[in-house]
Amino acid sequence: MDMAEKTKKGRIFSGIRPTGRLHLGNYFGALENWVNLQEDYECIFGIVDWHALTTDYEDPSHVQERVRELAIDFLSAGIDPEKSVMMVQSHVKQHAELHLLLSMVTPLGWVERVPTYKEQLRQLEGREIATYGFLGYPVLQAADIVIYKANAVPVGEDQLAHVELTREIVRRFNYLYGDTFPEPQALLHKVRLLPGIDGRKMSKSYGNEIHLGATEEELQERVRMMVTDPQRVRRHDPGDPDVCTVYAFYKIFGGELQEEIALDCRKARIGCVACKQRLAESLAQKMAPVRERRAALEADPALITDVLANGAQRARAIAERTMEQVRRAVGLS
Ligand code: TRP
Ligand code: SF4
Repeated sequence: MDMAEKTKKGRIFSGIRPTGRLHLGNYFGALENWVNLQEDYECIFGIVDWHALTTDYEDPSHVQERVRELAIDFLSAGIDPEKSVMMVQSHVKQHAELHLLLSMVTPLGWVERVPTYKEQLRQLEGREIATYGFLGYPVLQAADIVIYKANAVPVGEDQLAHVELTREIVRRFNYLYGDTFPEPQALLHKVRLLPGIDGRKMSKSYGNEIHLGATEEELQERVRMMVTDPQRVRRHDPGDPDVCTVYAFYKIFGGELQEEIALDCRKARIGCVACKQRLAESLAQKMAPVRERRAALEADPALITDVLANGAQRARAIAERTMEQVRRAVGLS
């Protein structure tokens, strides 16, 4: 660790599963926040491909390409490999070793009562995910976090139970074998709630997402498809921006346009077509730096390989140091 890193507030780990292209909901819900955290914390960001296999093991043919896709999403969003470690979980085998050792001390009841477990079993009904690996998902996640002795984990609400379980496992491990891991804190970020184009939560499973890597044309197309105020049928009908998905986007991207649009909508001074056109322009402008970084990355595939190789090397060094201590603590050497 160099001096600059030591003066930071602590270490962070967070990860995303490579299960498909990221969308603006992921960007505003997580990545944008990570990008800002890079300034204050020593950050390690993981592409957690083993976690993707817990649900996709029957057809793993896309995992490899999705890892690269996610790496491009991370970098284009502004994750800076000079500032942060960006790694692929399966490149750092120490995660698997620690997962095994943590699984020894984790009572079955703890993992069985994690709320996401039963919920996911229900949601993914029909897929055979009642497996040993899937039950152990949050224990693997705990290993991801504590192998770097992370102090904080930036996550959304949905992951709080996993961080809480991590803390419980840490307490139990430290109690049995002596102080080894710090208890990580969840860093809940203010989520800027972005609806999908149909007004529901933006989600790949609804098909209502706007991809982080969307071109200007794709952005325009998706904005054109957005639902507006359903009561506003004719151009001269006044609209209600508060029930309009387009307006929900203005609240995030509109800047000072926001108030003007609301007023013009209520007074029927602007039509929905023009309103969407202006939104598409603001959105394209706001996302231009992301698009430009993506174009540069796609033109230079070797760069991704280099970044991931370098990230793996840096991550392994930290992880191996922890594992030496862990092996000693549990009586192995
Ligand atoms: N379970 C997390 C999710 O679905 C992904 C994840 C895996 C993770 N390991 C992690 C998040 C470690 C934070 C820290 O979003
Ligand atoms: Fe929505 Fe704009 Fe149409 Fe008003 S004018 S309903 S804010 S799209």
